[in-house]
Amino acid sequence: MIERKFHVMTFGCQMNVSDSDWLKRTLASRGFTECENPEDASVFIVNTCSVREKPEQKVYSLLGRINVMTKGREDIIVAVGGCVAQQVGRGFFKRFKQVRLVFGTDGLSSAPQALDRLVDDPTLRMSLLDFSEEYPDRDGNWEDSEAPVSSFVNIMTGCDNFCAYCIVPYTRGRQKSRPTQAIIDECKDLLSRGTREITLLGQNVNSFGQDSHGDGTSFTQLLYKIAELDGLKRLRFVTSHPKDIADEVIEAFGKLDVLCPRLHLPLQSGSDTILKKMGRKYDVEKYLSTVEKLKAARPDIQLTTDMIIGFPGETEEDFLETMRVAKIADYAQSFSFNYSDRPGTRAEMLPDKIEKKVMQDRLARYQAWQTDNTERILQSMVGKKLDILFEGVSRRPGTEGVSWQGRDVYGQLVIVTLPEGEDVTGKILPVTVTKATRHSLIAEKAGDTW
Ligand code: SAH
Ligand code: SF4
Ligand code: F3S
Repeated sequence: MIERKFHVMTFGCQMNVSDSDWLKRTLASRGFTECENPEDASVFIVNTCSVREKPEQKVYSLLGRINVMTKGREDIIVAVGGCVAQQVGRGFFKRFKQVRLVFGTDGLSSAPQALDRLVDDPTLRMSLLDFSEEYPDRDGNWEDSEAPVSSFVNIMTGCDNFCAYCIVPYTRGRQKSRPTQAIIDECKDLLSRGTREITLLGQNVNSFGQDSHGDGTSFTQLLYKIAELDGLKRLRFVTSHPKDIADEVIEAFGKLDVLCPRLHLPLQSGSDTILKKMGRKYDVEKYLSTVEKLKAARPDIQLTTDMIIGFPGETEEDFLETMRVAKIADYAQSFSFNYSDRPGTRAEMLPDKIEKKVMQDRLARYQAWQTDNTERILQSMVGKKLDILFEGVSRRPGTEGVSWQGRDVYGQLVIVTLPEGEDVTGKILPVTVTKATRHSLIAEKAGDTW
């Protein structure tokens, strides 16, 4: 018999983070105990990402380390979930003897039952790799507990876009919109448990409802419905595809008070030639006109992006176009990486792969610009009064009093030191920014306003 003590390791995007959180709660509700320290665990769950080669390789080296750490132990289970699991599937059983469960995107909801069986029967191996016909809805399993101040809510799974470089449509399957009522019910439940900020999650949220699983509600309508829920203070969503963002969604930034003025709108490349090869279905002109409209609807809006530097065929001129557009969009933050070949994608077959050294040099130049720009934006906040939604006590202890962490409307981390005994969790309160560090703002209580 294997002890019901588990440790979860998560790679990848917010969807994996949100899936892992659900898995932890659900296992706890089934009599498993979470161990912070992996050495105390018997059940190891690795939730994986295969968007680039590096995170995929990290999974193999982690599994190797788990093998070493548990050498000689028969009483353990290793489970691999997420995008690499969906991609490699039962191949894990051959390569890593200790792996006894692989589960993909839609298999996640049955993973807790599978682990129950595996704990009791050490001879068993299971794989949950089929995509289901329906959106795989699941109970939140919150039981009596409070929810975090800021929560994620899935509104869809999968993606139908098949951008040339991307493995996600293969690992997450076709787009499936979640029924509107289930989304609203989950939001209401979270709000009743203390959540104040909701981030709607999906690979392509703007095409919510536009697949065979849609129930007639558009993304705009969904936003308006959620915005009016009692107790909701802040609303965000990721990810928006620039080709699909509707004018009504853009206008919502000017109309809905709870909708935060920050939007992740991945450009990927600022060159029309490259965008075409990527199959992104927008050009720079269309992208920049969307940026203009967003700024007209909400002048203080901040944008963030994903960039792929060094896509096959990218010339120095293409790269300089990317730099040019980034400066116009004035990104507050970028998730920028070098292009990475992914098995089975169209880009993998493309000629004119860019030399590693050239790609790395361009990426370094891009990131240097972004670092400066982020710093400039953070510095410009010093002296300003901001409304902060407090999430809880910050891990970094203050010199005196208690260090609290919260976020401004842009999602920027703000640290505020308060006297002991004051619990501000879940409250929105005004602060004055006193200092900007590289990644966060330091602020103090604004006057006697609290
Ligand atoms: N659905 C989202 C993004 C999902 S993947 C969107 O369309 O924006 C997250 C990011 O990983 C992408 O935006 C892209 O910038 C990056 N990415 C995906 N495939 C990649 C590859 N083969 N090489 C490098 N970066 C990649
Ligand atoms: Fe990948 Fe493109 Fe789908 Fe985003 S929209 S998940 S980049 S295929
Ligand atoms: Fe990675 Fe899968 Fe998310 S590939 S980025 S974990 S959808």
